[in-house]
Amino acid sequence: MKTPEKVGDICKAMKEAAGDSAEISVKFRVGVDEEENLDFISRFLDMVSTKSSVTKYVLHARRAWLKGLSPKQNRTVPPLNYDLVYETVKKYPEFVFIGNGGVETTEGVVEKLEKLDGVMIGRKIMHDPWFLQVLDREIYGIDESLVPTEEQVMSRYLDYADMLQKTVGTKNTILAKPMFLIYKGNKGRFFRGQLGQLISKVSGKRYVAGGIDKGDSLWGAESEIHGHPLFSTLVNETLHLCNKQFEHIKARKETSAGITSIH
Ligand SMILES: Cc1cc2nc3c(=O)[nH]c(=O)nc-3n(C[C@H](O)[C@H](O)[C@H](O)COP(=O)(O)O)c2cc1C
Repeated sequence: MKTPEKVGDICKAMKEAAGDSAEISVKFRVGVDEEENLDFISRFLDMVSTKSSVTKYVLHARRAWLKGLSPKQNRTVPPLNYDLVYETVKKYPEFVFIGNGGVETTEGVVEKLEKLDGVMIGRKIMHDPWFLQVLDREIYGIDESLVPTEEQVMSRYLDYADMLQKTVGTKNTILAKPMFLIYKGNKGRFFRGQLGQLISKVSGKRYVAGGIDKGDSLWGAESEIHGHPLFSTLVNETLHLCNKQFEHIKARKETSAGITSIH
């Protein structure tokens, strides 16, 4: 934000390179260091929009302290300033504005959508990905039967992950991040532990030398790329192990219940 001219040049070059095939938007904050006001924002927006003709902006309601605060602290320490976000929106009715920062509830989304074109949610979705389904139901009124199940979401994500690995070679650790909180409770704990173990196992030499136990598993040649298992293979393997583990626990509980009743 301190160099709006440079941002404008970058956006212009991106637009020219992408043509009509990609929509370019710009994410920025209400302020940087000592500057947090409408004049500062206007200087940025006027320059970027004139140079690049970008019309879509994501505005994070917290300023950034470039010195003294880490990126993580910059997401919590500077206070939210939605008043300044709304002032900006009012001044630039010709642009599309998505508000961002600190939104964690349906009420928070609804309130902001009254004044903004959209809301971007970061950490809440990382910690609770199913919150998006709550919003689908509560804000967009999507019928329960049309909301995808856990299995459908997983299956679509794995198709996407396979495509990424086959085309750009995305790493398992990157693909696993959004998956780690998909299951809750005991299943979640087991799934996270097991998937983490499998990923570290295949990333080391042990996979090449001996391989994971392929005996009682879903392993197959189709599930590999360049001799390494695809992410979807690891997840399916993990789910298979989860199911086995839960069947085992259930059987143990049933057995001990049986013994208790004999005594
Ligand atoms: C792990 C993590 C990585 C992030 N990486 C980026 C990034 O690369 N670029 C960016 O503009 N914002 C990044 N952010 C900031 C978020 O996009 C968002 O602005 C911020 O988390 C505030 O929104 P929230 O309160 O809904 O989380 C990141 C946030 C987190 C938690």
